[in-house]
Amino acid sequence: MPLPKAELHLHIEGTLEPELAFALAARNGVSLPYADEDALREAYRFADLQSFLNLYYELMAVLRTERDFEDLANAYLARAAAQGVRHAEIFFDPQAHLARGVEMGTVVEGLWRALGSSRENHGVSTRLILCFLRDESAESAMATLDAAKPYLDRITGVGLDSAEVGHPPVKFREVYEAAAALGLRRVAHAGEEGPPEYVVEALDVLGVERIDHGLRSVEDPALVERLVRERVPLTLCPLSNVRLRTVDTLADHPLPAMLDAGLMCTVNSDDPAYFGGYAGDNFDAVREALGLTGERLRELARNSFLASFLEDDEELRAR
Ligand code: HPA
Ligand code: ZN
Repeated sequence: MPLPKAELHLHIEGTLEPELAFALAARNGVSLPYADEDALREAYRFADLQSFLNLYYELMAVLRTERDFEDLANAYLARAAAQGVRHAEIFFDPQAHLARGVEMGTVVEGLWRALGSSRENHGVSTRLILCFLRDESAESAMATLDAAKPYLDRITGVGLDSAEVGHPPVKFREVYEAAAALGLRRVAHAGEEGPPEYVVEALDVLGVERIDHGLRSVEDPALVERLVRERVPLTLCPLSNVRLRTVDTLADHPLPAMLDAGLMCTVNSDDPAYFGGYAGDNFDAVREALGLTGERLRELARNSFLASFLEDDEELRAR
């Protein structure tokens, strides 16, 4: 029986497996510049975040209809459930779809067709988190929040993702203020490739409750002390860090030292179709490469529920 866990850092577009990409391409009459699934898999060798993002955005071309988003989410939820995920807080990137002429309603309602019945169908409770693309303008982010207003009963929070360096959190101060005023929860990617200062800014300027990645926080002892003191959850993604070369090998990952320092770490999959594994695979990988004990693994699983946006009674049921 896999350890019950919550997944808090998961881009739904990053769960698009090659088989589904080709099936959706055929269904929608979209041609992909890869001969077959193996040729596509060959492209999964990334030098850094940007080289991954290029492929990630390119493959989204196959996602066009509500049914496509429903199928994508159902495929993810089935795989996650099989690996012990009982609760999933799921990012989506509407700007990447709006730019291709796919409406906000198509994306949200399509995802909701799967998420709305996920508890019954997969035994997984869910939340949806709308991410702004930080390499797009602040105005575009605000327009995206506006476009989401009819769907706020489906959306729990906002996040910030895409190319990090050169796009500091402060750029999105106003849109995060507007999101807070709408009652949305706030998270942001920070300290994946960007410096520890971006983590501080995400906390102080955007008012986030969790930091996605936050890996480079370890470079700043004062920041580590603060994150420990304030019990700020970090949604780490170990296999992602290896594939995007943020760490050299899994054995070099600072997760054990971060736990020893008292940081509230969680382990997540980020973009599992691209990075070699889902939530349970990430747990298995850190156990094997870093020799984490059962007690440490249970701490990571416990943290995932504590750091989630589940209400207290829901949290108890999910565990
Ligand atoms: N980092 C930033 N943006 C992303 C990622 C990531 O790992 N995955 C999808 N968008
Ligand atoms: Zn991410």
